[in-house]
Amino acid sequence: MTASGRRPLVSGNWKMHKDHLETIHTCSELGLRLGRGAVGAVDVSIHPPFTDLRSAQSVIEAEGVPVSLGAQNCATADSGAFTGEVSAVMLARLRVEYVIVGHSERRTMFGEDDEVVAAKLQAVFRNGMVPICCVGEHADERDAGRTTERLQAQITQALGRLAPGEVARMVIAYEPVWAIGSGQPATPEDAQEAAATIRGRVTELAGAAAASGVRILYGGSVGPDSASPLVSMPDVDGLLVGGASLDPGTFTEIVGGAAATVR
Ligand code: PGA
Repeated sequence: MTASGRRPLVSGNWKMHKDHLETIHTCSELGLRLGRGAVGAVDVSIHPPFTDLRSAQSVIEAEGVPVSLGAQNCATADSGAFTGEVSAVMLARLRVEYVIVGHSERRTMFGEDDEVVAAKLQAVFRNGMVPICCVGEHADERDAGRTTERLQAQITQALGRLAPGEVARMVIAYEPVWAIGSGQPATPEDAQEAAATIRGRVTELAGAAAASGVRILYGGSVGPDSASPLVSMPDVDGLLVGGASLDPGTFTEIVGGAAATVR
């Protein structure tokens, strides 16, 4: 356990990579590698594409791979005439535990606004799973000194329909858009400042108990070297890892870095 009492979470966002056969292989390899390491100290989730989830579930359960299954997105509705959508009901049936909501790629490329994000958060909770809600500022907002304002607005919109007990169980990922895929993560100090801003806003909106429970991840070009310094920060409770989560060896090193911060 960390000094905060929050159990770190390291989540791998595979984005649109790996077909179901590659996923079977990757999950098996993760099981071998993570099984030997300090994974017991942290929670780990992997978020393959929808078409891979069933295969990943089978390998995780059959081989006892010490990871939770996660998804990258879900629909706002539980069922209906929504061509091409996948509902939270369907994900829960596959024993998905975590669902990423409002990733910046969904917000910028697929037009998801704060209203849609709020509805998806509700859908995830309604179906007994935990959302990982992504927030973060764009480079121009950062340059204009508007990071705090942007984060506070996103958190206010996201939490608007949630009960304090739900907020306490959720995960928020601080992902500065300028850092994603850039190879250059935020400094641990910048990540801490943003995470503290987020936790402060959660306190104002949902109370101190919710704020001390909510786990805040950092995401954006995390690699093996940056993992431990980032998770050492008092308000950074884990990592959302994109590119570096695709290789089981690299991802295992990142998990190890996060586990090294746990006393
Ligand atoms: P990255 O992606 O680690 O490849 O920068 C992180 C994310 O988008 O979640």
